[in-house]
Amino acid sequence: MIVAGTIGELDQFLAEARSSGKYVGLVPTMGALHRGHLSLVECCGAENDITVVTIFVNPAQFNDPEDLKNYPRDLGGDLQMLRETDCDVVFSPSVETVYPEPDLREFDFGMLDKIMEGHYRPGHFSGVARVVSRLFDLIKPHRAYFGEKDIQQLAIINKMAQMLGLPVEIVSCPTIRESDGLALSSRNVLLTPAQRENAILINRTLMKAAMKKDLQVGMLKKWVADTINENPFLELEYFEIVDRENLRPVSDMERAGEGSVGCIAVYAGNVRLIDNIFFSNFATL
Ligand code: PAF
Repeated sequence: MIVAGTIGELDQFLAEARSSGKYVGLVPTMGALHRGHLSLVECCGAENDITVVTIFVNPAQFNDPEDLKNYPRDLGGDLQMLRETDCDVVFSPSVETVYPEPDLREFDFGMLDKIMEGHYRPGHFSGVARVVSRLFDLIKPHRAYFGEKDIQQLAIINKMAQMLGLPVEIVSCPTIRESDGLALSSRNVLLTPAQRENAILINRTLMKAAMKKDLQVGMLKKWVADTINENPFLELEYFEIVDRENLRPVSDMERAGEGSVGCIAVYAGNVRLIDNIFFSNFATL
């Protein structure tokens, strides 16, 4: 595994792979890696000749400077984990390398970025699109891998690739969870033991909600809000039921299609956690 910090070092490695017609897969990350990231690396390794993992905490996608400052970073630990995987190249650039000039592009994703994360984190998805399009441009991957935990990000990256006509296949991989159901997230390390213990309510509430499909949408949303907010360690930011492809809110559970997904954002203290659940995977109680 080689570690590249500059575009020159990255190009040197990739030039040979490209000229010999090898398939290049990309796993973009912000580091503080966990088993969720490693599962993306594993999928990538199984489907491509070369696996590139990028580690870059992208300032452009943080609308809150405190959140950027507190975002966990552990490059040494990340490299150690990646050495045990199929990763061939780690690209860990500086901010100046990714953004040699200020990138002021604003993307219009229509309604895809007006709700949920886009609503509560203004500018977040333009920031994600700037960095991911830049990484696609530098690496020119055949395939790129993203987790379903960030389901809205996935829909937006698909849309961005389509809008910019990028020849890359976007591959989605399932959310990886702790044994008690908490979705793996780099932010989990920021939880206090008590917050961590109570955070399991997020997935449990989603699972119960997915079995209450006979409730009206408004009632179901209220039930989720009450269940989360009754816990003194948690505070609900949003719970929405949307179509996983176009993110249109589902207004009638009876007409909810196979692709309906319940998406949630919850604060445990200052730590913001997101998760989601595919309603089609659950029978009504
Ligand atoms: O999902 C993430 O970790 C980030 O949003 C991504 C895709 C690496 C872009 O910075």
